[in-house]
Amino acid sequence: MVKTNPIRMLKRLLRISNRSFLAFIFFFSLSSSGLYFIYVAPGIANTYLFMVQAQGKMLRDNVRTIGILIRDRYTKRNNTLNGTDYLEGYNSSEYLGQSATYLPEDFTISPGLPCPEKLPYMKGLVDVNMSEISMEEIQRMLSQDSDIEYGGHWKPKDCKARWKVAILIPFRNRHEHLPILFRHMIPMLQRQRVQFGFYVIEQDGSYPFNRAMLFNVGFMEAMKDLDWDCLVFHDVDHIPESDRNYYGCGQMPRHFASKLDKYMYILPYNEFFGGVSGLTVEQFKKINGFPNAFWGWGGEDDDLWRRVLYAGYNVSRPEGDLGKYKSIPHHHRGEVQFLGRYKLLRYSKERQPLDGLNNLKYTPNITVNLLYKNITVNLTPELAPVDEV
Ligand SMILES: *[C@@H]1O[C@H](CO)[C@@H](O)[C@H](O)[C@H]1NC(C)=O
Ligand SMILES: *[C@@H]1O[C@H](CO)[C@@H](O)[C@H](O)[C@H]1NC(C)=O
Ligand SMILES: *[C@@H]1O[C@H](CO)[C@@H](O)[C@H](O)[C@H]1NC(C)=O
Ligand SMILES: *[C@@H]1O[C@H](CO)[C@@H](O)[C@H](O)[C@H]1NC(C)=O
Ligand SMILES: *[C@@H]1O[C@H](CO)[C@@H](O)[C@H](O)[C@H]1NC(C)=O
Ligand SMILES: *[C@@H]1O[C@H](CO)[C@@H](O)[C@H](O)[C@H]1NC(C)=O
Ligand SMILES: *[C@@H]1O[C@H](CO)[C@@H](O)[C@H](O)[C@H]1NC(C)=O
Repeated sequence: MVKTNPIRMLKRLLRISNRSFLAFIFFFSLSSSGLYFIYVAPGIANTYLFMVQAQGKMLRDNVRTIGILIRDRYTKRNNTLNGTDYLEGYNSSEYLGQSATYLPEDFTISPGLPCPEKLPYMKGLVDVNMSEISMEEIQRMLSQDSDIEYGGHWKPKDCKARWKVAILIPFRNRHEHLPILFRHMIPMLQRQRVQFGFYVIEQDGSYPFNRAMLFNVGFMEAMKDLDWDCLVFHDVDHIPESDRNYYGCGQMPRHFASKLDKYMYILPYNEFFGGVSGLTVEQFKKINGFPNAFWGWGGEDDDLWRRVLYAGYNVSRPEGDLGKYKSIPHHHRGEVQFLGRYKLLRYSKERQPLDGLNNLKYTPNITVNLLYKNITVNLTPELAPVDEV
């Protein structure tokens, strides 16, 4: 390649030696591959960055997790069959989980009583099918034997749902992901006997993707439909692998997606709160929702983690393999990374009361489909003004 005519001409023009030319090529490709990772594949760059930043913390946490697992195995307490199992008898905030006692196959639930959390229909790891499929086909599959109502609403008939869960999905340009998500989520939530509804909040306009602000909008709109008591913030490309990852809320905010296949099923860092998380309506209001100022990819989930801590909560996570997720493969299509996030994160605490649910104005365009409510909003920074601190 170096021997082709135009390059020889260029070298003669620049009067440089072969060796320095090669050195130039070498450093150029090195720097451009660095830039490639930062701008084209921010996911990889960030994962790497997080791992480095974690400085052995990850290792310590894993040792701790294993310790807790061993302790639980040998000091197994009698779990109440009724379910509310998040906090009872456990101390360690992060690894509170659902333990392994599930109701027997022949257990009959009663229409008048609250649905148990550990139903026999929840079998654990399920097969994930990532093949693309059309929304029409999913609708056909799901409408045959389930009584889904418009907007993707459903509630169990054989017992009283323990939680009314609004699933909020921020969205842009990922039309082929939605049916894959519904295909797995709807049967799973039905087996878990929670009442649910789906909200897809699509960002219109040309501003960078603002996942956090979309969640705030979705929350405000969902609450107009029904008195939901539990909110699940769900990325469209995360498919739960275990139907025992119970999508109800708890006394503490919950991080559902603790083990992602893209992070080799390891929690990338202890404060990681991305992918899929859940808060009760009360908790979400108390922390003033998500920050609105994160334009582009990254940081808003870290800010939410801090908000949760500043409000005096701890985060719970599903135990063991229950928190496994597969990500639908894609490239960060036109999503830019948010480079200003480190600065904003430094002022998380000061910004919390100023930026969130309380300074947000928007005009949505709403349509109701069979499986979800489509809330489309054109987001701009003017919709959430803050007196900068
Ligand atoms: C655990 O529960 C079962 C039945 O629910 C009971 O027979 C057993 O005695 C309990 N064990 C302890 C240690 O409480
Ligand atoms: C389960 O809940 C019912 C009513 O909600 C209660 O009567 C029963 O004692 C509970 N059982 C256990 C084991 O906590
Ligand atoms: C919580 O942990 C502390 C020390 O680790 C212990 O003294 C306390 O009894 C524990 N509480 C419960 C409810 O397990
Ligand atoms: C995955 O889904 C596709 C499309 O619905 C179907 O043709 C295929 O058989 C499924 N694969 C498995 C392993 O179930
Ligand atoms: C959260 O965890 C910390 C340390 O593990 C503990 O000191 C604190 O009391 C916990 N907070 C709540 C509300 O449980
Ligand atoms: C809502 O969407 C429809 C169809 O795309 C469009 O005609 C209408 O102008 C939109 N309304 C607003 C307020 O954006
Ligand atoms: C949501 O509605 C808008 C029109 O308001 C439409 O352009 C968009 O494709 C819809 N998105 C989804 C995911 O249905």
